[in-house]
Amino acid sequence: MTLTFLEPVQEGIKEVEARMRAQVDASQAPDLRAAFEHLMAAGGKRVRPTLTLLIGNMLGGNPNQVATMGAAIEMLHTATLVHDDLIDGALLRRGIPTLNARWSPAATVLTGDFLFARAAKLAAEADSLPVMKLFAETLAIIVSGELTQMFAAHGSLSRENYYTRIYAKTASLFEMSALGPAMVSSNDPQTHLAMKTFGYETGLAFQIVDDILDYTGEQTAVGKPLGSDLLNGLVTLPAIYYAEANPQDPDVRSLPEGGWTDSDRVERLVAKIRAGSAIQQSMQEAQAHVQTALHALQPFPASTEKQALQALAEYITQRNF
Ligand code: IPE
Ligand code: IPE
Ligand code: MG
Ligand code: MG
Repeated sequence: MTLTFLEPVQEGIKEVEARMRAQVDASQAPDLRAAFEHLMAAGGKRVRPTLTLLIGNMLGGNPNQVATMGAAIEMLHTATLVHDDLIDGALLRRGIPTLNARWSPAATVLTGDFLFARAAKLAAEADSLPVMKLFAETLAIIVSGELTQMFAAHGSLSRENYYTRIYAKTASLFEMSALGPAMVSSNDPQTHLAMKTFGYETGLAFQIVDDILDYTGEQTAVGKPLGSDLLNGLVTLPAIYYAEANPQDPDVRSLPEGGWTDSDRVERLVAKIRAGSAIQQSMQEAQAHVQTALHALQPFPASTEKQALQALAEYITQRNF
């Protein structure tokens, strides 16, 4: 898949990565430097800073400020992944072993903490108090959402509950990636709202597709463990659609009572979800969010960046990794 929306920000992304790399120098412990190098070498799609750069450029923002913000956001994203993989016991990310696959939990936690600290420093260097507040608020939403998911909500078959979870874990950061650059580039509240909506809706779609890929994805393309959400007790949109259509299925009925412990039963249910229409329905729901995002872009005059943002939104439901 050629990602045409990356073209206008190719240089900008290099700048973002340079700023991320500049956060670690010879004064840090050699093991920390090695871990950081491992993380940077693994790459990642860089979707969030791409969003930040495209919006900042579209609205005529200061390129330095926008690149610093993009680096803060991608660093925050990386930090959450380091902790998420440790919590999930996931051994593969971006096609290579995770830090926790090679290191002790303690070292992994501390490396994640270091990345959070550097993300905050970069956010401060974007030199906007509202952006710093947004950064802190977003991090609080992500962490509090993960805790809710861990203790209570993950097995719920409720759609409302699902949306609360995917907002916290993914759409909140997409929202910041889009609203942040708008806040420093424009004083117009309508523009802020439009960009916030664009980030929010693309973020919801992105996580829905991530959840679909857990059922249908090609492991080598996606580069992280798949097929594990339901086995880990995590109910996502495909399971919700299946449960809505098959409320009497005994495998579905067993879920709320902790049916997770019976792995044969869960695997049977995963196979049924894959085979039915739940996947397609979930994809249509993701596409509806993409449409809402595109709608929010409509009032803006034509530009290379606007075109790239449209392509980015459309890519979300076409991606296979
Ligand atoms: C993974 O995000 C975590 C989710 C929120 C789904 P990405 O799919 O953007 O991961 P990378 O950065 O490209 O590896
Ligand atoms: C991780 O969400 C999101 C955060 C790091 C907060 P997922 O658990 O769905 O991400 P993957 O599937 O491991 O990438
Ligand atoms: Mg995970
Ligand atoms: Mg996932």
